[in-house]
Amino acid sequence: MSYVIFARKYRPMTFEGMIGQKHVVQTLMNAVKNDRVAQAYIFSGMRGVGKTTTARIFAKALNCQHGPIPNPCNKCEFCKEINEDRSVDVLEIDGASNRGIDEVRSLREGVKYKPIHSRYKVIIIDEVHMLTREAFNALLKTLEEPPPHTIFIFATTEFHKVPATIISRCQHFEFKKISQKDIINHLLDITKQENITISAYGLNMIAEAADGSLRDAQSLLDQSVSYSGENISDEDLKEILGAISREVLFDFSSAILDEEPERTFPLVESVIEKGYDLRFFYKELIQQFRNLLLVKTAKNPQDLLALSEDDLKALAMEAEKSSADDFLRYLVALQQGEQGLKFSSHPRIYLEALLVKLCHFKKIVPLEDIIQDIKALKKGFNKPVDSIPEYKSEEKPRRPKTQILEKENIRQEETEMTPPTPENHQEETKSQELKTAQKDTDFATKDPTVKYFLDTFKAQVLTVEPLKKGKK
Ligand SMILES: Nc1ncnc2c1ncn2[C@@H]1O[C@H](COP(=O)(O)OP(=O)(O)OP(=O)(O)O)[C@@H](O)[C@H]1O
Ligand SMILES: [Mg+2]
Ligand SMILES: [Zn+2]
Repeated sequence: MSYVIFARKYRPMTFEGMIGQKHVVQTLMNAVKNDRVAQAYIFSGMRGVGKTTTARIFAKALNCQHGPIPNPCNKCEFCKEINEDRSVDVLEIDGASNRGIDEVRSLREGVKYKPIHSRYKVIIIDEVHMLTREAFNALLKTLEEPPPHTIFIFATTEFHKVPATIISRCQHFEFKKISQKDIINHLLDITKQENITISAYGLNMIAEAADGSLRDAQSLLDQSVSYSGENISDEDLKEILGAISREVLFDFSSAILDEEPERTFPLVESVIEKGYDLRFFYKELIQQFRNLLLVKTAKNPQDLLALSEDDLKALAMEAEKSSADDFLRYLVALQQGEQGLKFSSHPRIYLEALLVKLCHFKKIVPLEDIIQDIKALKKGFNKPVDSIPEYKSEEKPRRPKTQILEKENIRQEETEMTPPTPENHQEETKSQELKTAQKDTDFATKDPTVKYFLDTFKAQVLTVEPLKKGKK
């Protein structure tokens, strides 16, 4: 018999078999029981937490021969067809590869007709956020006048990318991460049924690496069995999970922190050569920067990181290379890249480009700093540029005309240009200054020269300064 991966073999067949997600399961079961089924649902949440599985169980609950019933029988022809992926009325569409207007148009044509032999047509669109704007618009028309026999279920790992117009016509369920405890119990179940020996520590390691995704946990267990057979030792697991050695991670982080992009290409090559999964490697790299940030900011990092003294020392040394602020920006940028890497058709090139970008990170100036600089420049517009630094010419080295981005100098000069204020007026002056600053910024960004400048740098600026943007 051919080998069936655990994620498939242990996919729950009924709502009751679902792990966690109680709020979703209960609401859907009640909806079926009380005949209050909505026409469109949106299931959001991270990968591998049961969105597609729930959609299929729901389809069975609606179409089961004995139904609609909250507990589909899994024995009738309708249930079997859905379980075996051959139902003509339950369609699972991948939004990432059918993202255009044409695909949605033909879908709209299709849903006009009644289901061929089931009670309901169930259209499941996975990764719905990948649809184009035109495709969403076309879909919206269908949602506005949905055919009575059709239920839509949209699944997405990036809910924020789904247009509000779509969301407002759907019932939304947010799928949660699966708890560490639930993951361990589920793995324990599988290992018992499969006669696999593994220590409690080993299960814990897998659950931790899976980070809330049950499918990831199952895949890691699969991988461990392929590597070790049915007796999985802790050492083997470390090899598999911690496979990316600290040394390799340090090679990467130092190439980035030392701003040497040319070093990243052979490093990526070696990671691929050793057969590591790029997505897994990437997670480890994120972890490396998280550890660096932690070492940089926490008072007692040893209490928070389960690492040897040598590893901690190495981290502390590496952390010396940048500021906490910068580490935070690296971390955010790395996290933002994760989804892109997942969906990229050329993950290697995507990773290489991202790493090169990170190597140039320190040189890229945050948007707000640029606006400040422009403000300062504009203040000096009435004077010849050379005269701007005159205010403090003895104390500070003069700034050459070209160094527009030497922000610190300019800003300090600005403060020094402001006449001293009496103490009791300080509050008022501050708020006045804030207002003026805001006005200046608004004004500055409308100026055509400034606009050109910002447009030129926009791509870089927006990708490197998500934190400040986020705060607003
Ligand atoms: N909540 C859960 N309860 C039981 N099994 C689960 C659960 N979540 C995931 N699984 C297991 O993981 C496998 C994949 O789950 P599923 O395809 O439903 O995830 P998903 O949320 O749709 O992920 P993706 O966003 O990657 O499509 C299932 O076949 C099942 O074995
Ligand atoms: Mg899915
Ligand atoms: Zn049935």
